[in-house]
Amino acid sequence: MKLSQLVSSKSLVLGIESSCDETGVAVVQMCSGKTPELLGAALHSQIEMHRAYGGVVPELASRDHIRRLIPLTNEALAGRNTALNAIDYVAYTRGPGLAGALLVGAGAACALGSALGKPVIGVHHLEGHLLSPFLSADPPQFPFIALLVSGGHTQLMRVDGVGEYALLGETIDDAAGEAFDKTAKLLGLPYPGGPQLAKLAEGGDPAAFKFPRPLLHSGDLDFSFAGLKTAVLTQIKRLVGDVPEGATVRGAGIESLSEATRRDLASSIQAAITEVLVKKSLKAVLQSGLQRLVVAGGVGANRSLREQLNAACAKAGIRVHYPELHLCTDNGAMIALAAAMRLQTDKAQPSRDYAFDVKPRWPLDQV
Ligand code: KG4
Ligand code: ZN
Repeated sequence: MKLSQLVSSKSLVLGIESSCDETGVAVVQMCSGKTPELLGAALHSQIEMHRAYGGVVPELASRDHIRRLIPLTNEALAGRNTALNAIDYVAYTRGPGLAGALLVGAGAACALGSALGKPVIGVHHLEGHLLSPFLSADPPQFPFIALLVSGGHTQLMRVDGVGEYALLGETIDDAAGEAFDKTAKLLGLPYPGGPQLAKLAEGGDPAAFKFPRPLLHSGDLDFSFAGLKTAVLTQIKRLVGDVPEGATVRGAGIESLSEATRRDLASSIQAAITEVLVKKSLKAVLQSGLQRLVVAGGVGANRSLREQLNAACAKAGIRVHYPELHLCTDNGAMIALAAAMRLQTDKAQPSRDYAFDVKPRWPLDQV
């Protein structure tokens, strides 16, 4: 008998996300033949805690996940008054991510599963992002091309169904989110820089500075963003004058630049990143012969990227789908959803031995 025949059409899946700096817990309910429904969700972002250090401190992240997981689980269950023992499956992010942070979620999920006598399911974090648009008001249909743009990954994939992922291209160095975060730091913006840079870019001139668009005409679907921060650093040095050897640009007077110049810098950086993402995504969709694009991951929240993609896709007759804004960055709902969609399609491997392991490095096409 197939697993999907054993899965009740009303099964409840609890999902736990703890791969980086957000602790997320959510409950979804399976609906036969339909996308699972989100019943409740709770999220805690560690941004404030890590800000003082200019980036994520792994040890602090793990400790905070431990502190937050049980209260967040109670909050997620309270959404629809769901009793803990009504949960049928406990899903958790198995990777990729920070090893210690992943272990907290995996440990909590296995303890919960063991105490309730329910199976646990390890989920790939990027699969969660990839499937998150299915929880939106305008869900996609398979097959489609996916642009995955997060803090750690920038990939174009062909998606033919749950678990059917073919990598078409990816970054050969920094991820798009990393490019936003690193250049934002050069502009003196606090961590995480992506949303801050996007805010500063509003009203700026995207053509004020000409930053490189690496691999734009490379003929393949790969990306490269590492050169951008060097180009931005050089431009800032030119604007603020000579920076002594070893001094940071920040210390050397980025603050002395006018608000208008900093806006133009932010806007030009954003334009360089988004132009490459838009052009390569369109190329991937046109090459595939498909007519659907799905954008997922934290950078998918970027308004300018969405506007440009919407315009380019409308012109080319391509439908584009995004997750709801609050589901773009890390959250528990996407983990519960991915587990539920795998259960519905006989692609989950629920386990009752609770001997969890995590995979800090885990390519999506090897799931
Ligand atoms: O998917 P995510 O929450 O975490 C990872 O799995 O990495 O993505 C976080 C990344 C960060 O680099 C953050 O700066 C970026 O997404 N990000 C944005 C925006 N919101 C989040 N980048 C540009 N514009 C935004 N509005
Ligand atoms: Zn993520």
